[in-house]
Amino acid sequence: MHAIRNIVVLTGAGVSAESGIATFRGPGGLWEGHRVEDVCTPEALRSDPALVHRFYDLRRAALGGVEPNAAHHALARLDRAWTGELLIVTQNVDDLHERAGATRLLHMHGELCSALCAACGTRTPHRGALPPGSACAACGAAALRPDIVFFGEIPYRMDRIVDAIGACDLFVSIGTSGAVYPAAGFVQWARERGAATLELNLERSAGSAMFDESRLGPAGELVPAWVDALLAAR
Ligand code: OAD
Repeated sequence: MHAIRNIVVLTGAGVSAESGIATFRGPGGLWEGHRVEDVCTPEALRSDPALVHRFYDLRRAALGGVEPNAAHHALARLDRAWTGELLIVTQNVDDLHERAGATRLLHMHGELCSALCAACGTRTPHRGALPPGSACAACGAAALRPDIVFFGEIPYRMDRIVDAIGACDLFVSIGTSGAVYPAAGFVQWARERGAATLELNLERSAGSAMFDESRLGPAGELVPAWVDALLAAR
């Protein structure tokens, strides 16, 4: 195998599970009886904006009671130490990667601590509740919505992600079920590019067979061990 210089890390809900944030498809993944697929859609936002805004208000409020765990800290350590290219692509809308100190980070599914104007597209940092009909500071329209990529919408920064995967030597997927595309397809792109592929997850994901290697266990143990070994091997 050729030397590793450029790395893409994909993270999902499993990386934040040990911080106390429920995953989407595991136990506790339902919210007041709603599946995430029923709440996170443009149709739901149109038909019941109060429900959708409340769902994200509660998730945003919950961030105040959680802290980054050993997996977030290990990835931030990798970010600081790695002299090659690194891109951490997270599907998570929490802010735990950045609170741990990661900077080479991209939120492909949006962010809880941001509001999106449905009228002009401006994205604004936002804390606290976001009632439907809140006004956009940029254009004045009463059109702020949670800055979340809903099912059927195109994830953020796909151009940057495609470029990074196209140039990576190692693709690592952490704590994601592989149920949601396009993220679930990244391992295939990385393989086509000739990158080594590694999965770190509590259990085998839907695309597990696509990875060169799968290590099964909690992210809070597997990720620090992987980062330590990678940095020691430089
Ligand atoms: P899921 O809830 O689908 O999957 C979480 C994965 O993490 C599962 O495979 C678990 O086995 C694993 N897991 C749980 N605890 C873990 C731990 N302590 N350590 C390691 N792995 C653990 O979450 P995602 O794959 O992130 O989209 O879901 C993808 C997208 O679906 C989300 O970004 C969200 C959702 O709809 C949007 O909100 C747009």
